[in-house]
Amino acid sequence: MAGDSTVRGRTAIVTGASSGIGRAIAERLGAGGATVHLVGRTPEPMRESVARIEATGGAATVTVLDVRDSDALAALVGRVAEEAGRLDVMVNNAGVARNGPILAEEIEWSREMLDVNVLALLVGCRAAIEAMRRTGSGGHLINISSTAALRPDSGIYGATKAAVSYLSEGLRQELEGDDIRVTSLLPGPVATNAVRNFAPEAVAGIAALAGVGLQLSPGERLPDKVLDAAQNALATHIARPDDIADAVLYVLGTPLRLNIPEIVVRPAQTLAL
Ligand SMILES: NC(=O)c1ccc[n+]([C@@H]2O[C@H](COP(=O)([O-])OP(=O)(O)OC[C@H]3O[C@@H](n4cnc5c(N)ncnc54)[C@H](OP(=O)(O)O)[C@@H]3O)[C@@H](O)[C@H]2O)c1
Repeated sequence: MAGDSTVRGRTAIVTGASSGIGRAIAERLGAGGATVHLVGRTPEPMRESVARIEATGGAATVTVLDVRDSDALAALVGRVAEEAGRLDVMVNNAGVARNGPILAEEIEWSREMLDVNVLALLVGCRAAIEAMRRTGSGGHLINISSTAALRPDSGIYGATKAAVSYLSEGLRQELEGDDIRVTSLLPGPVATNAVRNFAPEAVAGIAALAGVGLQLSPGERLPDKVLDAAQNALATHIARPDDIADAVLYVLGTPLRLNIPEIVVRPAQTLAL
């Protein structure tokens, strides 16, 4: 598969690797032969991913941290690069999503979305750029944005993702003289836990679309079987985390003389919630 020669021997960091898209990207990079450093707040699923990566002969580590701790995130990136002598791939994926209008959003949630989706991503980019320059490895920043970035009606969340797109393009321009490429990846709906902080009715509505009855507390993760059922029932409306990992591997496989600034991965049909 494409990933094999593409990432073999590379050193990669993935934030938000305990769930969904980040976890799929980390596992795909690991299966492709990269040494992967998984970052997130929930250790157990990351440890399971490390075991899966090791079972394919790969190498991976887990770091439990909150990406809003800028010093801890920057220190981790620096340490990984120092120990490996290189940093090839930094995937800034950790994110928090809420649905609803701007005026209805609570300030605390707005702050969390801005802190995680924008500021932590910026810290991750800066630390990775510094490490790539210091070790001379060159590398690739993959910033996970969203198609919500293209829709002004997608609340504070969409605003944070629009910021990700602008930061990514600005950095791409500032880094044209470096061997560092920057890609902003905009997924449409993907079957993950991203909806866990949506209003409970919205989460129940998504489960109902898949024919599954579900009542969860706010913030609670959706069972994998519900996510799988939703994706299977709405296969042309909801993408799989692996679909996004495929796109990341494609981007990483392009030659250094190119930069893919933005890549949009949508399911074939629009999901009306
Ligand atoms: N699913 C979609 O439909 C969709 C569409 C477009 C874009 N996206 C974007 O894709 C990215 C991944 O989301 P997902 O869909 O895979 O949702 P998810 O399953 O909820 O995963 C989000 C990840 O971010 C981590 N995270 C959140 N806050 C964090 C913090 N303060 N510190 C460290 N890690 C944190 C979570 O880990 P812990 O909670 O364990 O820390 C988790 O690993 C996000 O940037 C999201 O905005 C998703």
